[in-house]
Amino acid sequence: MISRRSTLKAIGVGTLATGFGVSLGSISFAQSQQNPLRIPPQLPGTLNENTRQFELNLQQGTSSFLPNLVTETIGINGNYLGPTLRFNRNEEVSLLVNNQLGEPSTLHWHGFHLPSSQDGGPHQTIETGASWNARFSVVQFAGTFWYHSHMFHKSGEQVNRGLAGMIIVEDDAQEAVLPNNYGIDDIPLVIQDRRFNEDGSMSYMNRYEDTVVGMHGDTILVNGTYNPLLSVTTGLVRFRIINGSNARSYALAFDDEREFLQIASDGGLLERPVSLGTLELASGERAEILVRFNPSEQLKLVSVGRPLSFPAFPGGMSRMMRSLNAQDFDILTINSAADLSNTLPVPEQLGSIYRLPEAAATNVRRFVLSMGAGTRSGGDKGPGTGMRNGLGGGYGGGNFAINGRQMVMDFINGRIELNTTEIWEIENTSPMMHPFHVHNGQFQLLDRNGRQPAANEMGWKDTVKVESGEQLRIIMRFTDFADEQNPYMYHCHILEHEDRGMMGQFLVV
Ligand code: C2O
Ligand code: CU
Ligand code: CU
Repeated sequence: MISRRSTLKAIGVGTLATGFGVSLGSISFAQSQQNPLRIPPQLPGTLNENTRQFELNLQQGTSSFLPNLVTETIGINGNYLGPTLRFNRNEEVSLLVNNQLGEPSTLHWHGFHLPSSQDGGPHQTIETGASWNARFSVVQFAGTFWYHSHMFHKSGEQVNRGLAGMIIVEDDAQEAVLPNNYGIDDIPLVIQDRRFNEDGSMSYMNRYEDTVVGMHGDTILVNGTYNPLLSVTTGLVRFRIINGSNARSYALAFDDEREFLQIASDGGLLERPVSLGTLELASGERAEILVRFNPSEQLKLVSVGRPLSFPAFPGGMSRMMRSLNAQDFDILTINSAADLSNTLPVPEQLGSIYRLPEAAATNVRRFVLSMGAGTRSGGDKGPGTGMRNGLGGGYGGGNFAINGRQMVMDFINGRIELNTTEIWEIENTSPMMHPFHVHNGQFQLLDRNGRQPAANEMGWKDTVKVESGEQLRIIMRFTDFADEQNPYMYHCHILEHEDRGMMGQFLVV
């Protein structure tokens, strides 16, 4: 204990501010103390007959992220973010959500295959002071999921202030051979970027470009920890990573360029570990990785800025696109102990994934993702399309649409027949990447621009990057939960795009 503390202290004092630390917008810290990575508490729930019960309070609070500054935040059973919920595969869960925020909200179980009425989307709004009880059975494979606000027009703001948390689904059969000692060799990482004012308050959407590219902060928080430091004691560590940022994409790597193994994507384990030097995660996506450590080393998990590829031309759009995800960040500093306990061998095979056959699909749907007004956005398609009725600006313009239409609560964009398999073609005609997310469970990526996806995109997914100009195809089964009333959402997981209408809804009937 004592030695661990003095190690932390020595490192904290000796470390100069990192790249992003020197200029936090208007504030700057010449030197920044490192802070032990906060590990969100686990909430196992209480088992009552066959149902695991959870109580979640959406509440206001204050956090101290930055040295000597206090920030008003919101959280779930706490000041910022929420506990890590643990579900077992094949059990029933009941989640009682009490809204003590002082404003309406929702809580969505991202990635879960469940009835649309229990999904926590915009139609399950919990009014101020009210409660909502979601119940569903956990049919997921083991994996890393999350929960967050899905309040119509407000998801970005509420998630930015703290309404999000991790969910771990366990399945003993799948897990036995992987590190699973939470907080020791199984480390949750919720990566977020935030922007702070001088007084420590969070600033949100106070720049023009935020309305175009989404809210990008200049300060990284991991599990709500600024400048985080983690000490590991085992030779093999599993990280469960959620890109919980509103808009930012990361290209995660280690500063010594060591390789690591991706073992899971959004919906659970891959068939076998995929060796990577860099892992790209767009907002909403998850990955689990295994990293090997040698005794007594210090390394950094970083995010590598994207090389400039967007053409330079006069005007704001080119400038915004060229600066998008161009920055390098330090994400997490990791120290390993002098004595590392048991290094588990990495299994060569993690499971097997049934690839949905294209031939099973009986319907193909097309989704065109677009930004702004003008000829590139499609025509005026009636209420909520917003493209030719004076709302739009230029190519960027702050308008976001799918198939030329913006989300309105009472318009159902599609009806899907129960027990069918569909192929969805998604095309991005806008100048930037959009992470496309579908509710109702997991899909598989068939191809990108006609080419086979990378090995780490061959598992179950619920959120997929669609790069500018790209066309991809996903395949999904709609096997359960027919409901004439309650729709599922699909949307861009850049929350400011979602909030501005880049979302649609479908019924399974
Ligand atoms: Cu993570 Cu519809 O959201
Ligand atoms: Cu979702
Ligand atoms: Cu988007």
